Amino acid sequence: MRLFTLASSILIGILIPQALSSNRKPPQDFAQHCYNDPMSDIPASPDNRTIPWGQPSIINGTSTCCSSLDEVRAGIDAVDAQLLELLSQRAAFVREATRFKVMHDLVDVPARDAQVIEQAVTDATAVHLPQSVARAVFAAIINSSVPFELCVFDSFHERGH
Ligand SMILES: *[C@@H]1O[C@H](CO)[C@@H](O)[C@H](O)[C@H]1NC(C)=O
Ligand SMILES: *[C@@H]1O[C@H](CO)[C@@H](O)[C@H](O)[C@H]1NC(C)=O
Ligand SMILES: *[C@@H]1O[C@H](CO)[C@@H](O)[C@H](O)[C@H]1NC(C)=O
Repeated sequence: MRLFTLASSILIGILIPQALSSNRKPPQDFAQHCYNDPMSDIPASPDNRTIPWGQPSIINGTSTCCSSLDEVRAGIDAVDAQLLELLSQRAAFVREATRFKVMHDLVDVPARDAQVIEQAVTDATAVHLPQSVARAVFAAIINSSVPFELCVFDSFHERGH
């Protein structure tokens, strides 16, 4: 029984990530080059399309999303709520980092900043995230986190706490 449970959790561990990643990547993806940084230049489409055009591409259980712009926006709102929660957790670690910094001028480490951004761009492909989005978002996260971390460092005064 225990072996069976172990075997099935290993199987689920192997199958689920593949199912999720294939859900995010349509089998025949005309937009594949849009995921690379830089994107290749293609001319503006001259088509006049009927709305909605193309096929729903997000597989969710037995149904596929999306059949309306409202459904698309509800999906985006749900993801944004998760992003806020994750950014809050990240900011908590940034704040914690100040406890290990000895002086104001050593709070920001530009080499580490650059490495975080480049790693995100490299890892983006494996999770089917456009590399240009990864680069811009992580640059914004770093740019906004550095002043925050400096503020936390400067706000701490031994006599005041
Ligand atoms: C698309 O619509 C515009 C404006 O009605 C028209 O000028 C153009 O010729 C149309 N293009 C095609 C490919 O039908
Ligand atoms: C996917 O399905 C679940 C449960 O059926 C639902 O709660 C969720 O909103 C759906 N997500 C999308 C993006 O359609
Ligand atoms: C981050 O800051 C650097 C240096 O100040 C700047 O070159 C870059 O454009 C900024 N990026 C974003 C996303 O604000």
